[in-house]
Amino acid sequence: MRRRWCNPTEPLLPKQFHLGWFATFGQSAWNDPLGAAPEPWTGELHLDLARSIERACFDYLLIEDSLSIPSAFGGSTAAYLKNGLMAPKHDPAPLAAILGAATSRLGIVVTLSTMAYPPFMLARLASTIDHLSRGRFGWNIVTGTEDAAARNFGKPGLPPRELRYDMADEYVDLVNKLFESWEPDAVVRDAASDTYVDASKVHPIHFEGRWFQCEGPLNTVRCPQGRPAYIQAGGSPRGRRFAARHADSIIATVNGIEGMRRYRDDVRRHAVAQGRDPDSIKILFLIAPIVGETMAAAQEQQQRVLNSPGFTERALALFGSFVEIDFSPYDLDQPLPHLTTNAEQGALDKFCQPGSGKTLRQLVREGGMSSSLELVGTPDHVAGLMADAIDDVGGDGFLITTPYHRLSRHYIASITDGLVPALQRIGRTRTAYRHAMLRENLLEF
Ligand SMILES: Cc1cc2nc3c(=O)[nH]c(=O)nc-3n(C[C@H](O)[C@H](O)[C@H](O)COP(=O)(O)O)c2cc1C
Repeated sequence: MRRRWCNPTEPLLPKQFHLGWFATFGQSAWNDPLGAAPEPWTGELHLDLARSIERACFDYLLIEDSLSIPSAFGGSTAAYLKNGLMAPKHDPAPLAAILGAATSRLGIVVTLSTMAYPPFMLARLASTIDHLSRGRFGWNIVTGTEDAAARNFGKPGLPPRELRYDMADEYVDLVNKLFESWEPDAVVRDAASDTYVDASKVHPIHFEGRWFQCEGPLNTVRCPQGRPAYIQAGGSPRGRRFAARHADSIIATVNGIEGMRRYRDDVRRHAVAQGRDPDSIKILFLIAPIVGETMAAAQEQQQRVLNSPGFTERALALFGSFVEIDFSPYDLDQPLPHLTTNAEQGALDKFCQPGSGKTLRQLVREGGMSSSLELVGTPDHVAGLMADAIDDVGGDGFLITTPYHRLSRHYIASITDGLVPALQRIGRTRTAYRHAMLRENLLEF
């Protein structure tokens, strides 16, 4: 492990890091003994989540999204509907509006697919939510990972990954121009000349791309942040290049500290190659900590999840939907063959651990599908592991998620009232917000 404080001439300040929360606008832990919550569809549970993590000074809440009911597992939607996995799933954009209204500092990030939205509509929606939240909106840029979603939009399937990213580069260039189409001082509200907007400060963009065209200008007032914060999760080499070019914050799931370091170094190299300051990109690693009052209580909690009826099927169905692979025919007690996907290849490699010789059952139990680090224990123990990891890797923070997408108030409290105070005690996460807008908070340290 590297030393936490390296330069003896510098003040002995521990390195602070960022926190995000990854959630889905889907089913909660409805049948967990400690998870009883109302149906999530009115947004009440997510309002509780947002208020709780704002109290804990998180940078942002990210709501993931997808646009079909998966059928990867067994070639059918049955396992997904029965278990409430990735379906039903409601539209996160209106949820973002109410979450923004109920909070004042927390960033609200919503997943919007470049496959689904015409660029003008996306820019208009994002600008509107950035205003409603007073500069706290973030766009999680995704290009789509499911062929079924593409078919819901009248397309035969997803384009290959490289082409998806080429198209997305053009798409983001277009929406950037739309966000810029209003100069910062275009709204003058000048009673003397009876002028609301100075028309000379609002410009068409005349965008003629290979895949997208748009006349512009945008018909919303310039965003409080200029443009929303951009979040991205490129895992493949092409995806990392895309993320390094556009993102303010990158979310990633990799294996262990070595994987975290390699990923971060690689993305930062890409950023420099594209003329960006790598410190302007905050990389948050996905984790699903399990904290308890004692080490034994936390371990017992983990075992309860792993040994719950139907766990293996649910885990494989969920993960299969991310990578569009049907794991149902594979023998649980054999290693997997080499697998490839047009969906999330990085996540697939992380899960399969090629060459490790581990059986599918072991891979599922290790939870290699979501958490970048194994974090089970008391708040102080887990906080220490997180701090050591950041010291080893160099930055920048963590994206916390509920193990297996099963949100409960009990789990939220274990993080916001257990883990985060432990992180704050050792000076690793903020105890108060210093800024009003999302990108400013990301750039604070
Ligand atoms: C933490 C995390 C969250 C993600 N959330 C979404 C999502 O909400 N919707 C989606 O379509 N893809 C999501 N993805 C997939 C990414 O957008 C991307 O496709 C994936 O990381 C694989 O990278 P690649 O496309 O470069 O292979 C997520 C990935 C990660 C690691």
